[in-house]
Amino acid sequence: MTHILAIDQGTTSSRAILFDGDMRPSSVAQKEFTQHFPASGWVEHDPEEIWETVCATCLEAAEGQEVTAIGITNQRETTLVWDRVTGAPIYNAIVWQDRRTAQTCADLKADGHEAMVTDRTGLLLDPYFSATKLAWILDNVDGARAKAEAGELAFGTVDTFLIWRLTDGASHVTDATNAARTMLYDIKRGAWDADICALLNIPMSMLPEVRDCASHFGVTDLLGAPVPILGVAGDQQAATIGQACFQPGMLKSTYGTGCFALLNTGNVPVVSKNRLLTTIAYQLDGKPTYALEGSIFIAGAAVQWLRDGLGIIDDAAETTALADAADPEQEVILVPAFTGMGAPYWDAECRGAVFGLTRGSGPKEFARAALEAVGFQTRDLLEAMQADMGNASETVLRVDGGMAASDWAMQFLADINGADVDRPTVLETTALGAAWLAGMKAGIYPDQAGFAATWALERSFAPQMDSDTRTRRYAGWKDAVARTLSRP
Ligand code: G3P
Repeated sequence: MTHILAIDQGTTSSRAILFDGDMRPSSVAQKEFTQHFPASGWVEHDPEEIWETVCATCLEAAEGQEVTAIGITNQRETTLVWDRVTGAPIYNAIVWQDRRTAQTCADLKADGHEAMVTDRTGLLLDPYFSATKLAWILDNVDGARAKAEAGELAFGTVDTFLIWRLTDGASHVTDATNAARTMLYDIKRGAWDADICALLNIPMSMLPEVRDCASHFGVTDLLGAPVPILGVAGDQQAATIGQACFQPGMLKSTYGTGCFALLNTGNVPVVSKNRLLTTIAYQLDGKPTYALEGSIFIAGAAVQWLRDGLGIIDDAAETTALADAADPEQEVILVPAFTGMGAPYWDAECRGAVFGLTRGSGPKEFARAALEAVGFQTRDLLEAMQADMGNASETVLRVDGGMAASDWAMQFLADINGADVDRPTVLETTALGAAWLAGMKAGIYPDQAGFAATWALERSFAPQMDSDTRTRRYAGWKDAVARTLSRP
């Protein structure tokens, strides 16, 4: 029987999911890897650990099965530079959450460059994106700039690095969705931007070739026989595809390490007046479909912090029961700005804060505050989308990602937004999106309309909170955020 293998290389773990001919997940392998925090606001990954966990999970998930094609989806923006001859990275991967280039971005803004960058890339001048991370590596690793200028180094986001390794250096490629997150790619022209590269002193010879999301990216022998890589999309875009948000106005929100809401805006790159990002949702047959994106840096990562930082849970799944048992009289608010705040605040300098602690506050109240923070932040995004589009609140929110499995978190999300939340039967939407791209290109999965018809609702959450409580609770969150930001 034929299968598609989806590689989902995320921020905290690498996963491989094997989908059968009917697009059902038949086997899953997952490996967490080390997070390195070398300084405040810095986050790095060891590229070899990324590579090893990807290889191990692929071999485990695909064992004994015939694989027709591979689809790749990945944590976006995370920046790698490697030697074209040896394939060895010259520095750790600088992770999307990393804020080390905050000052560079502030300087570029002060020099008046943001309008041009936003006009070309759809992004804001923020350390989140790859461009300033890449410039940092060239400026700070001994000999890097000279080697880059001599054409000896290659740049890539995680998809590009994995494809390079999987094809033994034969393919230096990416897809339009990942390119759109580098802050070096003109999303309207569909080309790398020479002016931004010049501004940051980045040799264009380092950049990969950009392809459609369903395309021939290369062939790998990893599984013991040649298998083509036929689908690539950044993880949030893959989730948008997996949720079949193919019509303008459709909206999804994914709860992984961070939370990312994408609203399909069709073939028009809508410019946000509310500090959302304009990005490419997917590109098929040479035609980009655009999205407005709200990006929150910490969602599931707050639960991981409860486990690894505070040690008050052993397993993420315990959070819901704890939150449920929290004291209803206490209103502890966690603003999880561990690496600054993303949309719509974009404050790279502020750090997390907790408000409303009493002598009786404990693990239960922290667990509830972590889950509620995700709902509050999602409302921030949806309000910004509504202000940009006028009708986003009438759109049902399709949710996915690990935290979407928590009924408690999803009910709070519906409550605090005052809108329905729809959870599909398949929560592996990110991997499904990548698998569908590859399977559709291979000719074994249905076309776009056929795929959209397979989306099925598992449960809809309707708001139950009264509107006074909703207004008061959200005002409490906004007040907590105002007190956390580094600038008014
Ligand atoms: O932009 C960062 C995003 O792609 C990371 O996604 O699922 O690892 O939180 P995730």
